[in-house]
Amino acid sequence: MALKLARRSGIPPFIAMDVLRAANERAASGADVLHLEVGQPATPAPKRVLAAARVALERETLGYTDALGLPALREAIAAHYLRRYGVTLDPARIVVTTGSSGAFLLAFLAAFDEGDRVAMANPAYPAYRNILAALGLVPVELSAGPAERYQVSVDLVRRHAGDIDGVIVASPANPTGTMLAPDELAGLARYCRDMGLRLVSDEIYHGIVYGKTAATALATSDDAIVVNSFSKYFSMTGWRLGWMVVPPDMLRAVECLAQNLFISPPALAQHAAIAAFECEDELNANVARYAENRALLLAELPRAGIDNFAPADGAFYLYADIAALTNDSVDFCQRMLREIGVACTPGVDFDPTRGHATMRLSFAGSTETIATAARRLVDWRR
Ligand SMILES: Cc1ncc(COP(=O)(O)O)c(C=O)c1O
Repeated sequence: MALKLARRSGIPPFIAMDVLRAANERAASGADVLHLEVGQPATPAPKRVLAAARVALERETLGYTDALGLPALREAIAAHYLRRYGVTLDPARIVVTTGSSGAFLLAFLAAFDEGDRVAMANPAYPAYRNILAALGLVPVELSAGPAERYQVSVDLVRRHAGDIDGVIVASPANPTGTMLAPDELAGLARYCRDMGLRLVSDEIYHGIVYGKTAATALATSDDAIVVNSFSKYFSMTGWRLGWMVVPPDMLRAVECLAQNLFISPPALAQHAAIAAFECEDELNANVARYAENRALLLAELPRAGIDNFAPADGAFYLYADIAALTNDSVDFCQRMLREIGVACTPGVDFDPTRGHATMRLSFAGSTETIATAARRLVDWRR
């Protein structure tokens, strides 16, 4: 007799990770695969982080740390807020987490009850709605197309006032890269605070911007939960380390959740990450490479018939409208992987409604990878 599988475990896949597995399987069988499906830098962690990790391996016992993270790392993160945003932050409000993914779990559990409704833009990072669903919360998708620059706005949220308990915003966003101007984010943070809505601001792509300024919701509201990570700008995806800044009255609840769910974030990654804030030159060189890759794709992809993109103000993605090429982005991406070895993510991962005619290309890889992928796409579509 088949035993029960929990209903709440029946969430959709994170398709980008499914594509990564398929791409890795093809690569393992000898195929030449270019990875534009997953948002991860081609670079390792910065040199000083690697050196700090080696020292920690030699000198530290690397046991559990405080559930909220190493005090020295929390202080380094607070110093980062003062340097980057001019925001003075009590390190006690900083919670070090197992990637920003761990932060979302803690934040959603601490802020919302089962059945609460949480709004976000559609398209959006798929794990928002899938984590919410797994926790018995209800994702409310606010349709945001080109006219809204694919972003949540006060206007969109106002239409659901009284019907939602929280809002998730990301600027720069995944999959589009679009950003809110600092005054738009501030307006949203004020509106949420005034209406008693919990704002979760995903700031994971801060540092990766192309001529725009990324503001933090903390500059406006201490009631917002701000989520960030060492994965993207700091080039440390596999170290599984992130953080969040929580309102003081939520701290103890988050600490108890973190103690019970994770015990502590990874010790080696924490010791190493303290050095991450001294690596700006190296990290900004990565951002310069993303800018070069972005320009290359914007110049080349129109020759492959792909010329309609969301404004990629930040992050390392192009979100392309491919309606002229297909009405089935999953099949299109599968054929692309099979026929030319280029892995991309079909838009349905981010937008179940309209994503059948969109696709996301990550340009976080090396410029050689991106240039080769563009060449293959142009030859394929010719
Ligand atoms: C918008 C956004 N938030 C959060 C994450 C999760 O990242 P991590 O758990 O590695 O910090 C990602 C990863 O791609 C993302 O794109």
